[in-house]
Amino acid sequence: MAGNITLTMIKPEAVAEGNIGGILEMMNKGGFKIKALKLLQLSEERAKAFYEVHAERPFYQDLVNYMTSGPIVAAVLEKENAVQAFRDFIGATNPTEAAEGTIRAVYGRSLESNAVHGSDSDENAVIESAFHFSAEEIL
Ligand code: CMP
Repeated sequence: MAGNITLTMIKPEAVAEGNIGGILEMMNKGGFKIKALKLLQLSEERAKAFYEVHAERPFYQDLVNYMTSGPIVAAVLEKENAVQAFRDFIGATNPTEAAEGTIRAVYGRSLESNAVHGSDSDENAVIESAFHFSAEEIL
């Protein structure tokens, strides 16, 4: 499965603005197949664990605060070369730099409120998928 999956999260502002449906539709139309899906609330502890790799970055605590500020949607997506294909599809981290028509260009509001997360490597896609879903939940 590695190489063909990526983990995405629809972030709090996109959920609060009512954009879950629009974002999932863009993903589907982009050829990403939903393998697992859930609406959830991250605790401080869980958010810190998810973003452990950024623990030394100055924006870490703000990122944790933001990602725990409301419900998010986590999903495992499948497509050939999923990690890179999805990163191209969502656009640059900062929505102001995201290419036209990408998810972050359409739904992102700021560097922090950038609508969606996407795994940055095949290895992290597997780790992040297992963080949110049990094997039985990935179909
Ligand atoms: P994401 O790809 O989900 O993973 C880390 C997040 O940190 C990133 O999206 C941004 O939303 C957020 N972030 C906040 N500040 C920065 C920054 N200065 N550089 C990179 N990412 C940042």
